[in-house]
Amino acid sequence: MSDAPILELADVVKRFGSRTILDGISLSVAPREIVCIVGPSGTGKSTLLRCVNGLEDIQGGEIRFEQTRVEARAKSIKAVRMRIGMIFQQFNLYPHLTALQNVMLAPVVVHGEDRKIVEERARALFEKVRLSPRINAYPAQLSGGEQQRVAIARALAANPHLLMFDEATSALDPETVGDVLAVMRDLAVEGRTMLVVTHEIRFAADVGTRMVFMDQGKIVEDANPREMLAHPKTERARQFFSSIRG
Ligand SMILES: Nc1ncnc2c1ncn2[C@@H]1O[C@H](COP(=O)(O)OP(=O)(O)OP(=O)(O)O)[C@@H](O)[C@H]1O
Ligand SMILES: [Mg+2]
Repeated sequence: MSDAPILELADVVKRFGSRTILDGISLSVAPREIVCIVGPSGTGKSTLLRCVNGLEDIQGGEIRFEQTRVEARAKSIKAVRMRIGMIFQQFNLYPHLTALQNVMLAPVVVHGEDRKIVEERARALFEKVRLSPRINAYPAQLSGGEQQRVAIARALAANPHLLMFDEATSALDPETVGDVLAVMRDLAVEGRTMLVVTHEIRFAADVGTRMVFMDQGKIVEDANPREMLAHPKTERARQFFSSIRG
């Protein structure tokens, strides 16, 4: 791809105390790429995403998002975070606000945008996540899959340039997983740039433009998802894929 990368990691090292969690991670993500990150538990996938939006500082290397150096303690980090939408396993919705109010809160209260304009945008986002009929429901009245789709709408409301998903479907009942994956697929098709930590290998194979296999703080393989699944180059990847396929 000829586009300049939206995100670049060069030899990133992250330590917690004396433990090295990210051990020289280099990764370049171009606009519209769907990079699926897979790998065993405790390998540093969540930590990687947290470093990208400056929730964790790093001890070595460099992270650049749209040409800005990502530094957890720098003033510029606010602007970086505004452009990165993050979707977690837990939805973290405000229980006392309706779905619509949850999506409108940050644009109106934090960024001071016009309420009418934000509401129009929010309603369009609820259509996108296929949740328009539930716009006035409170989180407790929604299924896990519906709550996660509200969380996706909330992330989209800030007009992010990069979406990061950290096991967005892992906490859901099996019957609602498909609805969330369908919305993620729509976002991929409309050309969003996405970094997706997931155990949904079929989703990665169908929707991912790239798959990154991490183990023990390192990127072990980085390839086309279908190619990696069919022909893993390392024994570690081979073992991992056979274990999650059952
Ligand atoms: N704040 C922290 N302080 C100390 N150690 C931490 C902290 N956060 C994460 N770790 C450690 O870093 C390692 C990587 O954790 P991380 O959550 O990034 O793994 P993961 O690949 O996302 O795993 P999982 O698939 O289970 O979500 C783990 O050993 C974890 O215990
Ligand atoms: Mg994790």
